[in-house]
Amino acid sequence: MKKVGNHTSFSRILLFCLAFSLSFSITSYAQDAAAPAPAADAAAAPADGAGDPAKGKELFNTLCAACHKLDAKSTGPALRGVADKHDRAWIYKWVQNSSAMIKAGDPVAVKLFAENNNAVMTPFPQLSTTDIDNIMAYTSEPAAVAPPKAAGAQGAGADASGGSMSNNLVLGALVVVLGVLIVMLVLVKRTLTRISSTNGVQVAKEPGISVWKAYAKNQFLVLVTVILLMLASSYFLYGYLMQVGVDQGYEPIQPIHFSHKIHAGDNGIDCKYCHSSARVSKTSGIPSLNVCMNCHKNISEFQGDKDSTYVDHSKEFYSSQIKELYNAVGWDATAQKYTGKQKPVKWVRVHNLPDFVYFNHSQHVSVAGVECQTCHGPVETMEVMRQHSPLTMGWCINCHRETDVKVEGNDYYKKIHDELAKKYGVVKLTAANMGGTECGKCHY
Ligand code: HEC
Ligand code: HEC
Ligand code: HEC
Ligand code: HEC
Ligand code: HEC
Ligand code: HEC
Repeated sequence: MKKVGNHTSFSRILLFCLAFSLSFSITSYAQDAAAPAPAADAAAAPADGAGDPAKGKELFNTLCAACHKLDAKSTGPALRGVADKHDRAWIYKWVQNSSAMIKAGDPVAVKLFAENNNAVMTPFPQLSTTDIDNIMAYTSEPAAVAPPKAAGAQGAGADASGGSMSNNLVLGALVVVLGVLIVMLVLVKRTLTRISSTNGVQVAKEPGISVWKAYAKNQFLVLVTVILLMLASSYFLYGYLMQVGVDQGYEPIQPIHFSHKIHAGDNGIDCKYCHSSARVSKTSGIPSLNVCMNCHKNISEFQGDKDSTYVDHSKEFYSSQIKELYNAVGWDATAQKYTGKQKPVKWVRVHNLPDFVYFNHSQHVSVAGVECQTCHGPVETMEVMRQHSPLTMGWCINCHRETDVKVEGNDYYKKIHDELAKKYGVVKLTAANMGGTECGKCHY
């Protein structure tokens, strides 16, 4: 009887090992299969000579996207390949001031104007010819690969879904393998019992406790359980600590997944485009959804960069979040008009000082010239906004002691600095020198 028992546990261990090695070979196979795809993609990327398409993309998204799409008509015509349509000097003149050209009677300009229902394009005199070259490099980009739309959208789409596909495949395969293993175990057990009974060996029904005994004896299972328990408890402990008011690193989930990485990072949109009041008022404020719609009337699908891989979320997810924005403002993307059904977005506040503290953005951003990133961290890399600094009193005061106020080019500070230098012999002017550590400055 003992022998039979040993056999079963031995075969179990054997099967366990088999399952493990199988699952490893499957995952490593999946990685091998996935690896060449991005490399091939990079190789196919066009090497365009004139202009920097990355810089062009930034400019395009901030200045032009309100009226132009790459592949479809919007307020203005589709711009993909427009560089080949006109000569470069004409394009410089057009972008810098199209109305002047129309007035001057340039035949191409006049015709274009008429074709587009006499819609006026904003003049961009601030754009240099290099800037425009960059934009043209961007609008010419995928045209070099294949017919525009198919190349950009489909190629990239296939890539993204390919990634999640292979993941699903591996998971599916694992489930199947486990299922087969369970069936095999049952079969093995049954045959063993049958063999033992035909051989006249009595198999005693094991009492329920023995499962636990067997478990306790199996060091591997115990180890796995301990690791799982440790992971789970540290997860919950972390959650508990966050809730208790250690605010640094606070990273709430927002009603619309809004990525600063994609907006301020990849697309280089200036912080102040959205947080426009940071310069002039006490608060920075969160942009109203109308600001979003300046761009998103036209950007209804997430395309992303075709050479960058979006590790955080899939393109489908990002596109779905733009749909959420449409739901919130009541924009019907197919009819291109507002339905009037609005659902205001309640952004969860990330930074929050107690009411008894006075903090003023314009004082720091405009007057002191402190960069947003000094206090808010590398926002342009944050997929989800989080609180970077502790926002404690010590943090404010330390900076007031350490940061030199930029005196050059500011007569007001220059005067204070000179006076203080005479009085106390200070060489540098810090916020603290000017009373930045007085209680009343920060506390009402
Ligand atoms: C306010 C809307 C608007 C903005 C912003 C805008 N455009 Fe235009 N653009 C138009 C319109 C409308 C036309 C069609 C001609 C017309 O009606 O004046 C046009 C035409 C053009 C053309 C000629 C297209 C063709 O098919 O020949 C080019 C090139 C162009 N725009 C480039 C740009 C660039 C580059 C930017 C960003 C720096 C930009 N536009 C920003 C509205 C705009
Ligand atoms: C396209 C618009 C846009 C741009 C550009 C942008 N932001 Fe934001 N920002 C938002 C929105 C919307 C929120 C609220 C949602 C969230 O917290 O993620 C926000 C939230 C924040 C918050 C947290 C506010 C709180 O609740 O405490 C900070 C800090 C911030 N932004 C800083 C920056 C900085 C710094 C930059 C430039 C590097 C920047 N933002 C660029 C739209 C923008
Ligand atoms: C000297 C540090 C400092 C700098 C520089 C700074 N912030 Fe802030 N920011 C804060 C603090 C502190 C809060 C919390 C304010 C509160 O709770 O009243 C905050 C809050 C915010 C908020 C939440 C909404 C609000 O106004 O309370 C946004 C958005 C924001 N900052 C964006 C910016 C942007 C954009 C810049 C750059 C233009 C910037 N900040 C520069 C310290 C700073
Ligand atoms: C200056 C133009 C501009 C403004 C303003 C803007 N966006 Fe975007 N947004 C973009 C661009 C460009 C992309 C990337 C599109 C792509 O790569 O295909 C994008 C992508 C997105 C996405 C998908 C990626 C992500 O972040 O989850 C969402 C959702 C989104 N925007 C929401 C918003 C919201 C909400 C606002 C207003 C607070 C806003 N956008 C304001 C230009 C803008
Ligand atoms: C990154 C450095 C930095 C941090 C962090 C910082 N400050 Fe300042 N702060 C300055 C500088 C520089 C000045 C001087 C600008 C000026 O004279 O207005 C200043 C000025 C001030 C002033 C005006 C002082 C005066 O003499 O009128 C107040 C009030 C203030 N800060 C409050 C705060 C509070 C509250 C915090 C924390 C939540 C904070 N600051 C965090 C750099 C900082
Ligand atoms: C540069 C700005 C600044 C100055 C100057 C300043 N405080 Fe504060 N104080 C803060 C901030 C910010 C907090 C909130 C800290 C937090 O929420 O953890 C705070 C919190 C406090 C608290 C509440 C206790 C706590 O830690 O939450 C007291 C009490 C306090 N300050 C007293 C003072 C006194 C007394 C002075 C003068 C010697 C002073 N503060 C000067 C910024 C300042």
